[in-house]
Amino acid sequence: MTSCHPCRICGGPVREFFDFGRQPVSDVFPAPADVGTEHFYRLAVGFCEDCTMVQQLEEVSREKMFPADYPYRSSGSSLMGQHFEATAAHFLATELAGADPFYVEIGCNDGIMLNSVRAAGVRHLGVDPAAHAAQTAGASGSRVHIGFFEESTAHRIRETEGAAQLVFSANTISHIAYIDSVFAGVHALLAEGGVFVFEDRYLGDIVTHTYFDQIYDEHFYLFSARSVQAMARRYGFDLIDVEHLPVHGGTMRYTTARSGERPVRPSVSRQLSYEHDQKLAESATYASFGARIESHCAQLHVLLTDLKAQGKRVVGYGATCKSATVTNYCAIGPDLISAVCDSTPDKQHRVTPGSHIPIVPSASFTAPYPDYAVLFAWNHAAEIMAKEQSFKAAGGRWILYVPDIHVV
Ligand code: SAH
Ligand code: TMP
Ligand code: ZN
Repeated sequence: MTSCHPCRICGGPVREFFDFGRQPVSDVFPAPADVGTEHFYRLAVGFCEDCTMVQQLEEVSREKMFPADYPYRSSGSSLMGQHFEATAAHFLATELAGADPFYVEIGCNDGIMLNSVRAAGVRHLGVDPAAHAAQTAGASGSRVHIGFFEESTAHRIRETEGAAQLVFSANTISHIAYIDSVFAGVHALLAEGGVFVFEDRYLGDIVTHTYFDQIYDEHFYLFSARSVQAMARRYGFDLIDVEHLPVHGGTMRYTTARSGERPVRPSVSRQLSYEHDQKLAESATYASFGARIESHCAQLHVLLTDLKAQGKRVVGYGATCKSATVTNYCAIGPDLISAVCDSTPDKQHRVTPGSHIPIVPSASFTAPYPDYAVLFAWNHAAEIMAKEQSFKAAGGRWILYVPDIHVV
């Protein structure tokens, strides 16, 4: 059943294009004794016929998604470590190169980016409600405020610490349904000529490559240059630059500034015309995306059922949020995937949300190797396949389900 909801940004009509049904909060991993206590909601996505913003139709409360013991740790990936070191170096040489700059980061997590800015001696403040992760950043010497960034937080920071030359956020702004409050806060917090830069998964990559598992509770919005430009305008900002980045399977970095304060770079109109050519604002694009999701999920289920019938042992690799969508939508439980290996201590010895597959430390992968491993952390494929080279040498095979089902 499709429904029409008002857009969270502009109030226009949001047409539902895919319903994943009942899905759990993706980043809360129950202990075996707590199975059944998960919070479920209807994961459905649609796009706004007025401003084109792709968004979810139901919302999970921020307290349920980002509790103090939120387990995700950004520093679990060395590739992302390199990405944020390069990002920090770029900003230290540009936006933060003036006299006594001030840097604010929304969603600093364990300090993967913040620590590089702090190490350069720049005044800084990270804001993140995930207390345990933020305390890790604090323990390395970075200044953090544990809490949700919203308009009131921004006013307090501005009053006590002054205006910021750069407000940066990675993989967080798309998680925030109440985004009007974030923009109002950044508007108050930025120094004149300062910039608000955020990077998030890119809608163009998700649709083009059928990265359907990028859709889960935390990714409330799926941004494009067009929808971000419209949103920024509404909140008194210009989208002045976009940069496509290869991380997390395709990310876009959006640079915004208060309206009229900075020139708009040619990258913006280039990206808008790319999105036009890709038909990213047309409903037929989403109808065919939905049909591919259904077909890929059915094929994955058939493959895993066949392997089980052949007596093969299959495990998962990476207890990602993405895997919550895949396992719950495709009805994959411990009968088809006996365990999921993950390097994150706070996920181990727990089970995957909703699908209840036991999560084991990465070291268990080798003892002994399974016949097949479903790579749920496919965005870290290069890093993981390099680390686990002997799996293939021992006859093991990786199963990938994006951009389609294939075994390597
Ligand atoms: N920036 C890191 C972390 C991304 S995970 C990276 O790119 O790897 C998203 C983080 O955003 C979580 O740590 C979560 O606690 C935080 N978060 C969610 N809502 C927030 C808000 N309103 N203000 C600040 N941080 C928020
Ligand atoms: P992400 O795709 O949301 O970044 O999550 C990646 C997950 O995969 C996270 O739980 C950590 C895990 N992981 C490993 O287990 N081994 C690895 O080598 C990497 C890079 C990630
Ligand atoms: Zn809208």
